[in-house]
Amino acid sequence: MSQTSKRFLRALAGETITPPPFWLMRQAGRYLPEYRQTRTQAGSFLDLCYNPELAVEVTLQPLRRYGFDAAILFSDILVVPDALGQKVAFKEGEGPVLTPIRSAEDLDRLDLAGFHQHLAPVYATVAGLAKAIPSTTALIGFSGAPWTVATYMIEGSGSKDFPNAKGMMFSQPELFGRLIALLVQATGDYLIRQIDNGAEVIQIFDTWAGALPEEEFAKWVIAPTRTLVERIHSERPGVPVIGFPRGAGILYTRYVQETGVDGVSLDSSIPLAWAAEALQPHCTVQGNLDPLLLVAGGEALDAGIDRVLNTLGKGPFIFNLGHGIVPPTPPENVARLAERVKNWKG
Ligand code: CP3
Repeated sequence: MSQTSKRFLRALAGETITPPPFWLMRQAGRYLPEYRQTRTQAGSFLDLCYNPELAVEVTLQPLRRYGFDAAILFSDILVVPDALGQKVAFKEGEGPVLTPIRSAEDLDRLDLAGFHQHLAPVYATVAGLAKAIPSTTALIGFSGAPWTVATYMIEGSGSKDFPNAKGMMFSQPELFGRLIALLVQATGDYLIRQIDNGAEVIQIFDTWAGALPEEEFAKWVIAPTRTLVERIHSERPGVPVIGFPRGAGILYTRYVQETGVDGVSLDSSIPLAWAAEALQPHCTVQGNLDPLLLVAGGEALDAGIDRVLNTLGKGPFIFNLGHGIVPPTPPENVARLAERVKNWKG
């Protein structure tokens, strides 16, 4: 099947598709019993990310149930620091733990020497998926954005306020800039390899974009993302990029206009009518149902889905959540969502 006949890729090229293509962030994950089973078989979460056979399997699981228009590579944004030589672990119930980068000496220990070799299993997963997914399904590759990945690298874990990452940004901008530059290089290399193994779309997750004031947002969110988007567009023309500057509020407009993304993923706080007016004329929009409505289910879920469809479905649009599926989500509520989106008549 040629690229352009995939509904997902047509939407990203600017077409209005009725009903819109849909997928859900974290569509593979702990809310599915078959994921929990494969995850146990793999050992740790990172073992699963680096096992191509099992990573392909968990990517396919939600497609079999719900017929999404896109598959997203099963991996994590933190395989990039892991491949640069910063030890990453996922502790049960605690999230990621890394040996924090706080000084020039810490940063100097990281390098690109073994980068692609370390990530070879991820590339093998992408190649396996390109063969395994249905011919009408698009394959999404992804990375974290440099700022968001840097927060985990500097804090050494998840964080609410990023005291160390912002501390370095404000007090040692030269050191912080070197870390971001390394991430721009590594992330670009990583995404190009994903494309060469069969990824047809790239999504860049900037989960903590909303934590920065405008000037720092321009410097550390927009500029590195623009470099990545320009590199993909020039080195692999025709591969669209979706950006997700979660929490950026009104700065979504600058993000869209200045990064050159083909699509933008909206978090659940973005007002729908505003997005239709301010963002959709510039690029395809994706989103933004609250993931907790998918836990609630019932009429509240139906009403939420309809609001999103009725406001954004009249232009270039991909239906999604405003953030990832959470583990308590009943799988039957995802089935209910899939039916409702597929039956929307515009
Ligand atoms: O289905 C998909 O969306 C693809 C796979 C995917 C995962 N993580 C799998 C995962 C993707 C695209 C990500 C991106 C990711 N990882 C982000 C950006 C998007 C977002 O959610 O904001 C971030 C910030 C991370 C870092 C990360 N990974 C954290 C903080 C955690 C722990 C919190 C948690 O939910 O447990 C993870 C773990 C993780 N990544 C899981 C999955 C399925 C759960 C791990 C498990 O199975 O035990």
